Amino acid sequence: MRIRLDTGKAVTEVNKHYSQAFDGEKIIRQLHLSYPQGPTAFQLAPIDQLHIGGIKASMKLLQQIKLCRPNRVLDLGSGLGGLMRLIESELRINVVGLDITHEFNQTHQHISQLLPSFNAPKLITSDAQQLPFCSDSFDLIIFQHSLLNIPNSQQALAECRRVLKPQGRLLLHEVIQGANTGAMHFPVPWAREPSNSHLITQTDLESLLEQAGFIIQSYDDWSQEALAWRQKQLSKEQQSQSETAAVSPAMILGPEFKKMGSNVVKNLELDAIRIIELVAQADC
Ligand SMILES: C[S@@+](CC[C@H](N)C(=O)[O-])C[C@H]1O[C@@H](n2cnc3c(N)ncnc32)[C@H](O)[C@@H]1O
Repeated sequence: MRIRLDTGKAVTEVNKHYSQAFDGEKIIRQLHLSYPQGPTAFQLAPIDQLHIGGIKASMKLLQQIKLCRPNRVLDLGSGLGGLMRLIESELRINVVGLDITHEFNQTHQHISQLLPSFNAPKLITSDAQQLPFCSDSFDLIIFQHSLLNIPNSQQALAECRRVLKPQGRLLLHEVIQGANTGAMHFPVPWAREPSNSHLITQTDLESLLEQAGFIIQSYDDWSQEALAWRQKQLSKEQQSQSETAAVSPAMILGPEFKKMGSNVVKNLELDAIRIIELVAQADC
């Protein structure tokens, strides 16, 4: 199922950021040539785990998802579908993916068609700030590095509360502002310039969640392990090891990805950004 909805003008900047260098056809061609039997989750990770921490971070999130024991899951800003595929293959739970970048949803679907265990993903092109679902539809909603692009996080969280069932859960794996946000270097993978980056502080996030009707259940700072992971990736990129991989984040973000990746290291080292995992429960 793939539905396209009118997403309005407010999101054109995000669309431009993710689609300007994106070459979905090249990605599919490369995957097909390099992995005729279908790529594994690890072979896809450079493009479908588009967040700080890669597939390792997504595997860690699976533990939280398992604890929630959800029936209906919504992944907001699902990108090329790495987390969705892991949840479906490891936990046997169906997930609905929603993303504003239509080209990502199209390539997500094509990637799934290359896999031996093909299951048509349920994808919707829409804006997380105006969810096209009835109230009380989901048990779990996930943001994995997508709230960072959303200008009106208050509205997005209110929409999450509306479509979550009472006592449903919200799981965030996000980038937030650190104590030294003024030292931020751009471009970063989610924004070429500051106007596209919508990071908030931990305090603001917590109060927005409470206002929207959530009770915070756990909060974990993953910045140190995220920094170690990104430093390792950077050293591979500098030794050109990543150029031998069939696919790379540069096929999504273009040649600027090198600079974006090294800026993430600087921003983490300077405490301009932090990486967090947070679980909140909808009130009754
Ligand atoms: C950094 S990528 C992360 C993708 C994916 N979650 C992952 O971790 O691989 C951010 C994603 O959020 C999507 N996004 C940004 N703003 C959005 C919005 N308002 N509504 C829905 N998706 C949005 C982008 O199109 C992009 O796919």
